[in-house]
Amino acid sequence: MNRIERPRGTRDFLPDEMEKRRAIESIMRKIAESYGYREIQTPTFEHLELFTIKSGEGIVEEIYAFKDKGGRDLALRPELTAPVMRMFVNECSVMPRPLRFYYFANCFRYERPQKGRYREFWQFGVELIGSTSPLADAEVISLAYTIMKELKLDFELHIGHVGLLRHLLRDLEEDKASKIMRLIDKKDEKGLESYLNEIGVSNDLKESIRAMIELAGGKDVIEDAGKIIPDFDFTHIETLCNILDALGVEYTLNLGIARGLDYYTGVVFEAYAKHGLGAQKQICGGGSYRLAHLFGGEDVPSTGFALGFDRIAEICEIKTLGKKTVAVVNFSGLESEAFKIADQIRENTDVHVVVDVMERNIKRQLSYANDINADLVVIVGKREIQEGKVTVKDMESGEQRKLTLQELINELGS
Ligand code: HAM
Repeated sequence: MNRIERPRGTRDFLPDEMEKRRAIESIMRKIAESYGYREIQTPTFEHLELFTIKSGEGIVEEIYAFKDKGGRDLALRPELTAPVMRMFVNECSVMPRPLRFYYFANCFRYERPQKGRYREFWQFGVELIGSTSPLADAEVISLAYTIMKELKLDFELHIGHVGLLRHLLRDLEEDKASKIMRLIDKKDEKGLESYLNEIGVSNDLKESIRAMIELAGGKDVIEDAGKIIPDFDFTHIETLCNILDALGVEYTLNLGIARGLDYYTGVVFEAYAKHGLGAQKQICGGGSYRLAHLFGGEDVPSTGFALGFDRIAEICEIKTLGKKTVAVVNFSGLESEAFKIADQIRENTDVHVVVDVMERNIKRQLSYANDINADLVVIVGKREIQEGKVTVKDMESGEQRKLTLQELINELGS
């Protein structure tokens, strides 16, 4: 029989890695909750249409789409912003605004797998629904920033505003403007050049686009952008910068950020890891957008982000404090005693307790305890039972002592 391999672009996670991923996840949850965000969950698959309406060609090409047995067109979610907005329109449109939601979930994109790019990957994200204010952008950006700082990641945060580029492109048809945004997002300079020539945009506009996407740096960038689009109102981005400065958030203004998804309307931002990820170094993406009206709701402004959980797990050096492991030796004829003692330790302490289920001799049980890095071995033999005690072997020092079960529990703490 041939071995069955995992599908391309998917991964298995062994216990050490899961422990690390859960530790990272719990920091993300804790911080999001401390900002008043509450967790939600949406289905793994949705109607295909949800993602084809406005997510943009880039995403649509990568969708895992299929027909179910009833002939319906469905898709595995490539991201969660569209599902959350669908849920908002269906279930939450009368709730007091703003709404603060967060999610941690797997997503699927049919991309060419490489380091940091998978076909199944996880996002931790938030959506703040109902505000157009720069205060809302400031909140989500500082939340993303706080999470990445708390995880001690070495990253750069870039903030832009798609409104500026869209303003430049306002006289072009929607699909042409979107294609230009996509080429800018991919940093495909040649492709951009030839597309601009192909659709025959003026030299002035070409020059303005080129100048705008090269603008990156401190707040003086806003002044430079003002020279390219003098009729644009920069108050929103200025207010945002002032708040972020006051909060000590470090960022680069980068007006060349176009984002791969079509639904963004205002401030957008991305974070890039400085090392360890190669080409797939974007660890966070987000911004403000309007989607609700496309799903049958009113036109509600929202802002949010998603952290690329797998990329972060790859570079985060968090140390997990594994719990102590106690191995209870199981002797023939005394199995119930061993199981009962194990249960009492579990009920009264916070350690991991494993009991032999292989019916092996004591030597091999000790050797297995050593292999799994058990901290203590608890031996419950006939003599121990008569004395009302257990023998406890410290696997590091080799020291062996007789204790009552209560003494052992006290030592292990609760
Ligand atoms: P996105 O930039 O497409 O935005 O994805 C967010 C993050 O997911 C990326 O920055 C990246 O770290 C990670 N990511 C994307 N594709 C892959 C992949 N194939 N393998 C591993 N990681 C990946 C969104 O999805 C928006 N929904 C974010 C958002 C929320 N905007 C507003 N609210």
